Parts: sequence; structure tokens; C-alpha cells
Amino acid sequence: MATIGVFDSGVGGLSVLREIRHLLPSADLLYVADSGHAPYGERSAAFIAARVDTIATFFHQAGVTAIVVACNTASAVAAHSLRARFDLPVVAIEPAIKPAAQRTRSGVIGVLATPRTLRSPGIARLVDAHGRGVRVLMQACPGWVEQVERGELGGERTEAMVARAIQPLLAQGADTLVLGCTHFPLLRDVIARLAGPNVELIDPAPAVARELARRLADAPAGVGRVGTERFWTTGPIAQARAVIPALWGRPAPILEWPA
Ligand code: DGL
Repeated sequence: MATIGVFDSGVGGLSVLREIRHLLPSADLLYVADSGHAPYGERSAAFIAARVDTIATFFHQAGVTAIVVACNTASAVAAHSLRARFDLPVVAIEPAIKPAAQRTRSGVIGVLATPRTLRSPGIARLVDAHGRGVRVLMQACPGWVEQVERGELGGERTEAMVARAIQPLLAQGADTLVLGCTHFPLLRDVIARLAGPNVELIDPAPAVARELARRLADAPAGVGRVGTERFWTTGPIAQARAVIPALWGRPAPILEWPA
């Protein structure tokens, strides 16, 4: 039976976890929210690499059959070294520039991501490989991760932040927005409403879940079995116990990170 370790700098990776649960209903899922160290977006590469190493070691000791890096920022910095270090399928996430470039009608796409992801060589490579003939506008989104970490997915403050970041992209003709941080699909309702019906939002999470399912195709399917979920947080436990079940949509056991 598959046991899958999924992690993010915080609760954003739940947007990936829900797609995994949807495709793999019988798998056991372990989720680590590194909320005590979020946001990763402004951290050094060395800091992020050390966090990734600690969390992956925890998963390895827990006997997982695969690891999912449900964080664009951590994927850009550390997916490579994880694959070199652990003899397990490691599935990572990257901003969905390729499908966005294929779908835009205006020829302008906006990439919403953290400053570190936008500066990463991986982004330059994606734009180079798939963004030819398309204008790619990069947009950091200050404060969005923190709003999601607090569970504030709507309301005046969140809407003002989202409006400030996306308006310049819309003004330049973007009709396709890449949700290049796993926290951002959790703000999809607000982004979609402010962007309007003619703008498409692209979230790579379903593709990540499909890639994971493909990599686990040989694992016993466990037909009829209902998989379990366990959540750990490195941040304040009271906040996680309020926010994670609300985002996950049902009661969830939240455990304190073994210090
Ligand atoms: N959810 C993360 C991502 O996909 C990182 C957000 C952050 O901690 O800055 O990039």
C-alpha cells in the first residue's frame, strides 16, 4: 500500500494533497506544513535545502513509498538533491508555464509566484523552452502566503492584496494566470472573481497528482480501502488545528512536529 509524504512551507501544499487524495483514495498520506519557517520565498537556498532535508529524512524514517514536494520554491531549490539522496519516487512541482503558453489567446501570460521561484534558473529554463512567442510577465505576490497561512482566504485585506498584484498583469493584456505557488489555488475564488471570466487560472496540482499516480502504478491498488491522513506542523499548533481542517474540509489529526 502506498504511503506518501507530502510537504510545503506551510498549508499551501494542501492544494496538491487534495488532488492526490482524489486520484489515490486508498493511499495513506502524511503531510508536513513547515509553517514555523514560512514563507520560504524570501529565504536563502541553503536554508530551504536544510529544511527539505530534515522533512524528507522524517518521511524516509516513517517508511514512505514516495515524496511529493508540494512547494514550487522548495522544488526549484532542492528537488534535485532529494532525488540524488533518496531511492524513492520524488515528485516536484513547477509553475505551469507550458500549458499557459499553449492556452493564451492574447499572447500574454502572468506568472504569480514567490520572489525566489521567480529568480530561479528553473523559471528561466521554462520560459525559454515554452514561452517563445508569448509575453511572460512575472509577478511576486507579497503577503499572499501569510494570508493563506492565517486561513484568511477572503475579506477586504486579502482582496486588496490580490487586486494589487494582478491588476498590472490584466492591464498589460494577460488572459492566463499561472498559480506558481501552491498557496495560491487556495485563493482561487478571490483571484477568479477579481480577474473576471475571460482570464484562465492554471494550477499544476492535478498534473502533479497524475504524475505521482503514474510513478506508483506498480504499487498494490488497495481497492475499496479508505486511506488515512496525518498532518504535522512546525508552527503554532493551535493555528494549525484551526486552519488545516478548514482548508482540508474535514476533521484532520494535527500532530506536533517532533522537535
Ligand atoms: N507554497 C510555496 C510555493 O509553492 C511557498 C510559499 C512560501 O513559503 O514562500 O512556492
